[in-house]
Formats: sequence, structure tokens, C-alpha cells
Amino acid sequence: MRKNIVAGNWKMNKNLQEGIAFAQELQVAIADNDKVKCEVIISTPFIHLASVSAAIDTKKINVAAQNCADKASGAYTGEVSAAMVASTGAKYVILGHSERRSYYGETDAILKEKTVLALANELKPIFCIGETKEERESNKHFDVVKTQIENALFELSAADFGKIVLAYEPVWAIGTGLTATSAQAQEMHAFIRKTIADKYGKEVADNTSILYGGSCNPGNAKELFSCPDIDGGLIGGASLKVADFMGVIAGME
Ligand code: 13P
Repeated sequence: MRKNIVAGNWKMNKNLQEGIAFAQELQVAIADNDKVKCEVIISTPFIHLASVSAAIDTKKINVAAQNCADKASGAYTGEVSAAMVASTGAKYVILGHSERRSYYGETDAILKEKTVLALANELKPIFCIGETKEERESNKHFDVVKTQIENALFELSAADFGKIVLAYEPVWAIGTGLTATSAQAQEMHAFIRKTIADKYGKEVADNTSILYGGSCNPGNAKELFSCPDIDGGLIGGASLKVADFMGVIAGME
């Protein structure tokens, strides 16, 4: 069966020393808490990956990158390949975050390349999808999310698709304090699972972890995570302090 996962996305926050200190503090908090009922992931800036991985037990806390290049290697100044990410000890990579899509022009076609390269390097993509406020208000949210999944992921084999974690992050809920209601989130997660089932069959769909992201915090995590198709969260702001992040983790029962 699918895994429950709570992943923190630090975005462009914390210098190296702060990142290492956070990871070590989190490791102690998790070890002291027998109520942790999910896999825990921290997604750090590229430049912290190797040091953070070395500073903690990565069997207890997995480390993820927030992006990787859409090319394998070569003359792409400033880019970081999936192979480089994997060589740091990271096991996951966030792909298709709405901030990457909107600020850095990442298209479905680019994300398809990144996904293939991540999988070829044994990184598990945490693949983000989600609609804007305007798209929801014009009732296009289901079509938008379905198209994002189809365009970037539906040429994968069932075996490769089975390695993907999806994260539904409605753009209007990211960093706004405006969380999707548990009913809105559950409705979309069930739709995503059905979309997967229609393409790859029920078993693959039932085994796919689908995380919710967007102003998830210690106060609303439990209600969101108790929905049948919500398998955890991708957490931004509330992943930056250990107490807050542990509060979100405690929402998974
Ligand atoms: P917030 O939790 O800050 O809304 O961010 C969510 C997010 O974008 C995680 O990737």
C-alpha cells in the first residue's frame, strides 16, 4: 500500500549552518517521538544536500532536492543534474513546483524531461500539480490538473509511474494562509487517483502517494491528512521551524 509522507520544502531559506542545525534538531525530535506515523523528508537548497545528508541518518529522514536540470550533463552553466543530486545522497526531487512553473518558465515538456532523468538516476520525483485561483473560479481546475499529469507523466511505464509521488498544491493556497478545505482537497485527490486508475489501473492508483500542499500547518494537518485520498503533505512555511514541522507530522495518525 501507499506510503504516508510529510515533506518539508524549505524553498530558498536557511543558510548551510542553519540547515544542518535544523536537520539535526529534527532528527532528535523524531527519535524522541514514537508517534511519527509517516516518512519524513526535508527538501533543501541544492548546495545543502550533501552536508545535510551527511549530518543525519538518512534512513530516518530522507533528503530531497527542489529541482534538477532537464539535461543529463554538459555546457549548461548554473544547472544541477539529476545524477549530481543523486550523488549527494538525496533520494527525492521536487519537480514542477508552481514557483518553478511560473517564475522560471518550466513547461510540461521540460518537466517530462526532468522526470525521465530523475528516474534514470534513481531519484523519486515529488511531482507538483495544481490550479491557479482564476482556473478554479472558472471551473477549469480538474482539467488543468489532469492535463499537467497527462502531459508530463503519462508516457511513463506503469513501473516508472509507480515511483512517482504526486503533490496537489493549489497555487492560490501556497503561502497565502488560505488552505483548501479538506472537502476541496479530498475531491481533487480522489479525481487525481481516478485519473491514474483510468490510465494505469487501480493497483497503481491505490499505491500512489498523493500529498497536499498549500498553507498546511499544525492546526489543519490532522483534518487534511484524515481524508481517505490525502497521504500526507508538502509543507512550505510550516517546515522551517522544527516545532511547527513536528506539529504537522503529528497530524498524521
Ligand atoms: P506553504 O506551506 O508555505 O503554503 O507552501 C506550500 C508549498 O509550496 C510547498 O511546496
